[in-house]
Amino acid sequence: MLLSNTILDMLQNQLAHEYTNQSKYRNVQAYFSALNLEGFYKYFEEQAKGEYGHYEHIISYLDQKNAPYKINVEALEPIEFNNVNDIVDFYYNTEIGTTQLLYAIAKQAKAEGDEGTVSWLYNVPIGDTNLSLINEQNEEEDAALILKQKVLDGLGDNEQLNGQWIRQVDKMLLEQLEG
Ligand SMILES: [Fe+2]
Ligand SMILES: [Fe+2]
Repeated sequence: MLLSNTILDMLQNQLAHEYTNQSKYRNVQAYFSALNLEGFYKYFEEQAKGEYGHYEHIISYLDQKNAPYKINVEALEPIEFNNVNDIVDFYYNTEIGTTQLLYAIAKQAKAEGDEGTVSWLYNVPIGDTNLSLINEQNEEEDAALILKQKVLDGLGDNEQLNGQWIRQVDKMLLEQLEG
């Protein structure tokens, strides 16, 4: 079945959103590059690549449906981060917002009886992963919360101790990525 105009609009919006997520995480990556925190750097590089994968995944679906889509990517406002605290909030909030958008698409598709789109959201794996867009989104939201809590766990009033803690989390991320 052809996609409805509503679903087409939502998917076009979603692909722009995923592309913007990629740009956001590239900004985060740049922040860590300047600080020489390689674990965080690589972690957000992975996130950025993942977001680009979501963007491509949506394009593939629109192609498969022969949908008359347009790529209209949102411009990204410059983002200033003051500290790692800001970043983990930003990361978690970005993921929560993305989950909500995907759930809204699923809800709309269900309401329309568009089982193909529902099934694509829940079952069709992204690239060579074994996770569908919504499954992967749930994992990413969990991962963002875990990182946010980890960072917040060790932060206090002492700048020097905070710096040490961030380097410790950085090392942990690096081990996790290379392990
Ligand atoms: Fe995404
Ligand atoms: Fe994500």
